[in-house]
Amino acid sequence: MGPAEVVAVAPGRVNLIGDHTDTTGGLVLPMAIDMATTVTGAPGGDRVVLTSDVETEPAVIPLTGFDPAELRPAWARYVGGVVAELVPSIGFEGHVTTTLPVGAGLSSSAALEVAVTLALGFSGSELDLARLCQRAEQRASGVPCGIMDQLTSVAGRTGHGLLIDCRSLVIEEVPIPKACEIRVIHSGQQRSLATSAYGERRAALEAAEAVLGPLRDLRVIDLTTAGQGLSDEVLLRRVRHVVTENDRVRRFADALRVGDLVTAGRLMSDSHRSLRDDFGVSTPALDEIVRRLESTDGVHGARLTGAGFGGCVVALTEPHVISEGWSVRAADGAHRLTA
Ligand code: GLA
Repeated sequence: MGPAEVVAVAPGRVNLIGDHTDTTGGLVLPMAIDMATTVTGAPGGDRVVLTSDVETEPAVIPLTGFDPAELRPAWARYVGGVVAELVPSIGFEGHVTTTLPVGAGLSSSAALEVAVTLALGFSGSELDLARLCQRAEQRASGVPCGIMDQLTSVAGRTGHGLLIDCRSLVIEEVPIPKACEIRVIHSGQQRSLATSAYGERRAALEAAEAVLGPLRDLRVIDLTTAGQGLSDEVLLRRVRHVVTENDRVRRFADALRVGDLVTAGRLMSDSHRSLRDDFGVSTPALDEIVRRLESTDGVHGARLTGAGFGGCVVALTEPHVISEGWSVRAADGAHRLTA
């Protein structure tokens, strides 16, 4: 009898509010969604070999001695990032299926990393799993991403958003009120973090922190003083986004807890404007979708979700008022089943 077959499943995520805050230890409120990536296979051999329903070429990865960023085809880099971080003592042969759209900003790469890591036999805490996958993503893509996507894929909870403090990494589960629907609408613009200005934005925040100290410690009221410390107008707008966004995440969590969907939706729309005007990561296509949704009866609010530069809009609505896009539900985090 051969080795037991392993099945590992990891969900994507949609971020309800709190974007471009995780890299400075800020607050985010995403949820894992009921669209996921599954890896099925068995350990064996001295390479990791994965085929995929959505890719034409397989990922073939040696166990050591390679640079994940140089692998081909491109999706093999994420598998390679995991292998380089985990350094498994034995290979694996398997197949990947997914119900997530790839490159749409719903963290298909994080879901792949988490599912592969579990399939390869990772045993450790949820936080260590998320951290390993964050490093895998960084090595694969060269993008200095934060921990939100991987941690959400790992720690998701049915019916709940996750209020994550990205400094302490403490997670508070916030129930999503039953009387609403969360819809995700793809702008049609494929988004790639590697080719986006993500790294440039992160560097700008680091430059601001060198002058102002941790942005996480600044309150909205401190922004006037911050303006005196920073002479660069663009940098000040980037800072203003982060500081006001942390504040919106807190108020959004409070609004969800009391079922105040109107306030929650308004905060989402405010967040979109801040990402557009202050952080500069929206696109005309995303703005147009948000504008259209905001003028639709029964839509409480809408915003771009994730890094921006294309990808998806997330909307908080009354049930069944719009039909475009996907209706998503908050789902449990990643798990491994052994047949
Ligand atoms: C990407 C990154 C995350 C986060 C978001 C923006 O999804 O992977 O770490 O920074 O962008 O909020």
